Amino acid sequence: MKKKVVSMVLAAIMGVSLAACGSPSDDSSKGDDKKTEDEAGDDKTADDKTGDDAEQGDEADNTGGDAGGDVANKDKPLVWFNRQPSNSSTGELDMAALSFNDKTYYVGFDANQGADLQGTMVKEYIEANIDSIDRNGDGIIGYVLAIGDIGHNDSIARTRGIRKALGTGVEKDGDINSDPVGTNSDGSAKAVKDGEIEVNGKKYVVRELASQEMKNSAGATWDAATAGNAIGTWSSSFGDDIDIIASNNDGMGMSMFNAWSKDNKVPTFGYDANSDAVAAIADGYGGTISQHADVQAYLTLRVLRNALDGVDIDTGIGTEDDAGNTLSDDVYVYNEEQRSYYALNVAVTADNYKDFTDSTKIYDPVSKQLDAGAHPTKKVWLNIYNASDNFLSSTYQPLLQSYDDILNLEVDYIGGDGQTESNITNRLGNPSQYDAFAINMVKTDNAASYTALLNQ
Ligand code: BGC
Ligand code: CA
Repeated sequence: MKKKVVSMVLAAIMGVSLAACGSPSDDSSKGDDKKTEDEAGDDKTADDKTGDDAEQGDEADNTGGDAGGDVANKDKPLVWFNRQPSNSSTGELDMAALSFNDKTYYVGFDANQGADLQGTMVKEYIEANIDSIDRNGDGIIGYVLAIGDIGHNDSIARTRGIRKALGTGVEKDGDINSDPVGTNSDGSAKAVKDGEIEVNGKKYVVRELASQEMKNSAGATWDAATAGNAIGTWSSSFGDDIDIIASNNDGMGMSMFNAWSKDNKVPTFGYDANSDAVAAIADGYGGTISQHADVQAYLTLRVLRNALDGVDIDTGIGTEDDAGNTLSDDVYVYNEEQRSYYALNVAVTADNYKDFTDSTKIYDPVSKQLDAGAHPTKKVWLNIYNASDNFLSSTYQPLLQSYDDILNLEVDYIGGDGQTESNITNRLGNPSQYDAFAINMVKTDNAASYTALLNQ
């Protein structure tokens, strides 16, 4: 029965995300890019054919290619991950970066589908716990919201998802305003409005009491320590007006949970399904969203492997590879126009969290070792924009480190400080030493700081 529910949910998710990806609606300004895209698409088909030949060639002489020695850096495989090249104010995709060469891709997850899931999860929790949720019984359900990075599309989507589900969003430029409100104890803030929720014939007001970007004084965003401090301030000014805590991610969510909400039994909702957050559901953490990091980490390295092997990019993804690895289409979508792979999200709540306890466990359908003869070792430069980001360091990187062995990739992991791009680009001093690159930018606008180095 549980299984049936899960597949129904997945079916619903698929519907939503296909709809989302099928309409590159906000790309109206990119008519030209689109054309280039289509051309690139055609080229790709041609490449695929020669790719297959190349693969056979490699297998025959078993040299596995020339280790990227003669390939110009600008022609090497490149994958952007976790931060999609885009304008941090408008969200418009940076198609120049996404199609830097014909071996360039983005790997992330479907931000809107996940944001809708998070909002719905919180709303359903309120409905199911309506008898106890309003702690001071004043008819107002108050929540506070921790925002990760006001210029990051995932963060923006999650803020909107919460406001949409709870009815607190107001429109700005054709979409839900995602600005932080600061404090809003009396409901007079302009960036949000009071929502209303009706359960069992009774109406409740829903109010965003406070929200803030969790950025520390040095400039690091999604900052867990800042969130831990914020809940201290918020709880002393709002006390038991706070009925729910929502957070753009688990790093900040767990910091608030440990600092205050666990003891005060206030359900806290995050995102990422980091192992510590999933375990905390047993102690009252409200829930989280898995962005299928096990699938994303695989895709991040897999697209590089395929490009290096010169095979069809779908190998080991939608098409089973020679070792038997393949992903089913209920865990990811590929948007060819955006050259982007998006993993699909799953809600993790008290009902199913036991299935998600180890966030670093690789995904079984893509866990088979590639043959070292047919897929010889290649060198990859990969950076994590912030070495102390909870999700990237505790979930994503451990997964990458398991898949790099399976895919015969020798990866140099570079950890950034989360604040300055140059801290990372300085360590891409000699791209010629590598066969491929995987990049996680500090700021989504900054793709050119990396491609400039590869163009030199
Ligand atoms: C994750 C956050 C993380 C951010 C970093 C998001 O996708 O959910 O937890 O801090 O990426 O870029
Ligand atoms: Ca109340």
